Amino acid sequence: MSKVNSSPPVVQLVLRPGLIDLGWGHPDSALLPADLIRQATNAVFVTRSQEALAYGYATGPGPLLEWLQSQIYLNEGRKPELEQVVVTGGNSWAIDQICTTLAKPGDCVLVEAPTYHLAVRILRDHPVELIPVFTDEDGIDIEQLSDRVRQLKRSGRTVRMLYCVPTFNNPTGRSLEAARRQQLVDLAGREGFLIIEDDVYRELSFDGPAPVSLWSLDTHDIVIRLGSFSKTLAPGLRVGFMTAPADVCRALGENGLLDSGGGVAPISGLIVNEICRAGGYQANLGLIVDAYRRRRDALLNGLEPLRDRGCQVRPPHGGFFVWVSLPEVKSAMRVLERAEERGMSFLPGTKFFVGGGGDHALRLAFSFYAPEELMRAARMLVDAIEVN
Ligand SMILES: Cc1ncc(COP(=O)(O)O)c(C=O)c1O
Repeated sequence: MSKVNSSPPVVQLVLRPGLIDLGWGHPDSALLPADLIRQATNAVFVTRSQEALAYGYATGPGPLLEWLQSQIYLNEGRKPELEQVVVTGGNSWAIDQICTTLAKPGDCVLVEAPTYHLAVRILRDHPVELIPVFTDEDGIDIEQLSDRVRQLKRSGRTVRMLYCVPTFNNPTGRSLEAARRQQLVDLAGREGFLIIEDDVYRELSFDGPAPVSLWSLDTHDIVIRLGSFSKTLAPGLRVGFMTAPADVCRALGENGLLDSGGGVAPISGLIVNEICRAGGYQANLGLIVDAYRRRRDALLNGLEPLRDRGCQVRPPHGGFFVWVSLPEVKSAMRVLERAEERGMSFLPGTKFFVGGGGDHALRLAFSFYAPEELMRAARMLVDAIEVN
């Protein structure tokens, strides 16, 4: 018998040969700023090697916390106190730690329908019940949400929090409408639940400024906003940040994980700090926003023929994703089979619903492939939808 000698993998991504796979919402490796990160790493080891190699401060390196504080003020018009900012290990880490620290067994956690499917996986690692809330073209339907919360409370349940992606949503690409933002924050304030605002795509805004964050509207102390350097620098750094009420930050900073481990990733945090302070962050952001905008436009151009075929294609103003709604007679799973025969793939809508739905919808990621490949993939998809 021959011995299979395969090396253990280094990265998460698995590409199938001959397939343009728009299922992967990863940054293109060609757009990851390796030189910038290498230079910043060298600078950290010249100026701060002792600190970088030590156990870090629980809520993150002070210089990065201060940079975040001033940058958030500049972008959001609301200045967090230093004790309202925590450096995280990315948004996935933060969602997990918020649940560990704040949720109790049996609590209800509300999620959008559809929602980011891997956040569902994280939430399901905790003994909470996920409750889907209805969304339309403008995001969460506040009236239906309000009814649902009251119903749950009447039946004796504790609604602990809502997890949402209100800006350049994954999977739909859409953003919560302006008036609904304030209504949502006020509803949470009145009903006493927290909002986890996953704001991972905020800075990848293609057509002007992104909508205001829920956090900047929060006068009730109930919004936990999560930002990440995964999309704007590199996911391998595992650095993000959280702005939240001081008691939430304190609870996180005092939990066993940060206490024992000394912050999440001190070296990565100091590298990010170096990049941000030397101006490399903004320069890189300008480049990648242009690149992702071109990719979005290429994909939308390629999908243009779908408009005559009863499909809805929603142009996103930022982020990584285009959501396509098929006519009721077409199944996304059948289209997927046909599309893969032709050489492209995507994630079917069903992946993004807790409790059913999404049979006639699909998500296309435009982050990973160059414009020409996106155009080719779009042509294959159009063909697959036509024959289905
Ligand atoms: C909505 C959303 N949240 C979180 C993440 C993961 O973020 P991080 O790398 O900061 O954990 C992603 C990545 O695809 C995402 O789309």
